[in-house]
Amino acid sequence: MTEEQLKKLLQDMSRKEKIGQLLQVTGGFYTGESILTGPVRESGITEEGVACAGSAIGLFGAEKYKEVQRDYMEKHPHKIPILVMLDVINGFKTIYPIPLAQGAAFEPKVAEDCARMAAKEAAVSGVHVTFSPMVDLVRDARWGRVMESTGEDAKLNSDYACAMVKGYQGDAVGEKDRIAACVKHFAGYGAPIAGREYNTVELSENTLRGYYFPAYEAAVKQGAEVVMTSFNTLGGIPSTGNKWLMRQVLRGEMGFDGVLISDWAAIEELIYHGYAEGREDAAKKALEAGVDIDMMTGVYISELEKLLDNGTVKEELLDEAVYRILGLKNKMGLFENPVKDADAEREKEIILCKEHRETARRAAEKSFVLLENDGILPLKKKEKIAFIGPFAEEKEIYGAWSMLAKPEDTVSVKEAAHNYADEFSFTFAKGAPVLGVSEWEIVPGYEGAGEKEAALAEEERLLQEAKELAALADKVVLLLGEHRRMSGEAASRTKLKLPQVQRRLLREIVKVNPEAVIVLFTGRPLDLSEEKELAKAMLTVWMPGTEGGAAIMRTLTGEVNPSGKLPMSFPRCVGQEPLNYNEYFTGRPYEDGCEERMYRSNYRDVQNSPLYPFGYGLSYTKFAYGEIELDKDSLTEKTSIRAEITVKNIGLYEGSETVQLYVQDCVGSVVRPKRELKAYEKISLAPGEEKRVSFIITEEMLRFCRADLSFGSEAGRFRVFIGGDSSAKKSKEFMLETE
Ligand code: GLC
Repeated sequence: MTEEQLKKLLQDMSRKEKIGQLLQVTGGFYTGESILTGPVRESGITEEGVACAGSAIGLFGAEKYKEVQRDYMEKHPHKIPILVMLDVINGFKTIYPIPLAQGAAFEPKVAEDCARMAAKEAAVSGVHVTFSPMVDLVRDARWGRVMESTGEDAKLNSDYACAMVKGYQGDAVGEKDRIAACVKHFAGYGAPIAGREYNTVELSENTLRGYYFPAYEAAVKQGAEVVMTSFNTLGGIPSTGNKWLMRQVLRGEMGFDGVLISDWAAIEELIYHGYAEGREDAAKKALEAGVDIDMMTGVYISELEKLLDNGTVKEELLDEAVYRILGLKNKMGLFENPVKDADAEREKEIILCKEHRETARRAAEKSFVLLENDGILPLKKKEKIAFIGPFAEEKEIYGAWSMLAKPEDTVSVKEAAHNYADEFSFTFAKGAPVLGVSEWEIVPGYEGAGEKEAALAEEERLLQEAKELAALADKVVLLLGEHRRMSGEAASRTKLKLPQVQRRLLREIVKVNPEAVIVLFTGRPLDLSEEKELAKAMLTVWMPGTEGGAAIMRTLTGEVNPSGKLPMSFPRCVGQEPLNYNEYFTGRPYEDGCEERMYRSNYRDVQNSPLYPFGYGLSYTKFAYGEIELDKDSLTEKTSIRAEITVKNIGLYEGSETVQLYVQDCVGSVVRPKRELKAYEKISLAPGEEKRVSFIITEEMLRFCRADLSFGSEAGRFRVFIGGDSSAKKSKEFMLETE
């Protein structure tokens, strides 16, 4: 449609049709799988509303979509197609590593490829929009949704946000096999006080602008077509009713002119926040904030008519919202071709195809982070290996948002191990359930829960069986971790240790056989201080997805040398949370090992440093860093500095290393972090090979949110650090001078 035709359509639409465009309901209402009862009806969603809802969430399957779209448009007065949205977070049916794992690859292209393939599978199944990427900056591992982000660094998150939007949308969402990206959750949802889900967020505007906004802005600048509001308040105002946040910042400053959708029921929740007097007030505040779509409540469709009639809300606000929604449908070409890419034949050939599985496996391999290794890894041929733990045979090794994943499509470690049967001798034992009786409550409806006595007896039996196996093996690989629903939405926890039953298994096994390796499945940083002491190697595999077992076996056997780096700090204990590498010095700075421990910014009982820092990850080989060389010791906004360093592979294996460049701004109009990631480059080196890695430091890299909230650099002293993680010691000073 042309702009004129779109405007004409808007003019011809009835008020009811317009308001209907602002409603999103679940797709089940069109397939008969959902019925209008209970809370949904109480929220004001009616049959009439469903009949003219502008979008649906959770409708997929080419044939089903085509049928629904055809029926829907037949009944629609102006034949306006419905828009279909879905949480395609880390894959559609081919499941990729969770976003936090993809961040660990320090390679945005990995995420772009995963997003592109996920978009293809979703598009052929009739999906138009994904509620991804989630780009909330996170610093508190108690919050379960850290697994959906790419971590604690604004630059890394921004790079990944752009890559994912590009992967989903390509150059235009109307292109074949492309879907629209929805960047979320705007804004600051990743910083709930105490890491408690949906809790209040208190961030200064300087911190918001300096650390939390950049990734959202990067995604918007990349062309994300949709933005989702966050559940939390900012400055005491819920995002979904926050005019400053949505009108001034998102649409004004960031230039977003796409569709703004509320998070699930977030418009109605303005009432529960105590920010709206009732439904009418909630509808008014959300529409005035510029929220276009009401996800899954009937507040807009039940309240806007009267608000418009009595002039409380201006008609223009309704028209602008409807126009943006029609505009997105138009960009996707739905008016000309409502079917778009939905195609049952292509579904069969594309979904879970070889290329997608290989991409999933490679992404998993690149996401694994080797935390410890005394040389026990990689496993040596002919060794007798006992695979012990709840994840030895587990097939649900994908993240909580893997809506359409099926265990039967997933490769477990045990299944992958069969490919190595002629080179190794493997035995398998479960050893323990994921959760023991004392912790069943951590996962509501946990499938392992049952009769306590029997469960306790089973725990003993499993442990005994595992100990016998461990005694007969050369080495033990303990496959431990979080249940897939221990991270994700509404999964905040006050403890970050592995489940007790698994820690008991670890302790008992290493007594029998100390040659122990831990393979850790997790959606978040955990407190691994005990595991670090007991195991000789530790490999974090996160929630690796469909090809996880294959990726793990290729890594354990040395076919793949792990190269992942932590996108989020791992604490020594939960008491350190929130924890981030780019913290401020304070007036009483303290670094571990500093003699003077009293009256410094530290704890009496734990070191300040994380157990494993941001950017950290080992390799089966070793990399030696030379000295940093700068081609000059000062720069201006018109010049730059070349920073170079030689990296040499001094070990026995070919491997990849992500060389990281951090900068410290020594003095600022606001205090500046100890250091910030400004550039990174992954290099591959054969044993004995060395490479000169070169970075260009520019004035633009040194800009930050200053005391007056403007972005810019300030002349003065800087330090550059280059190394293999955020604790890199090698540094050089340089000056930024004004012209
Ligand atoms: C959820 C999440 C959001 C998701 C939406 C739709 O509550 O907060 O990330 O996209 O609802 O499932």
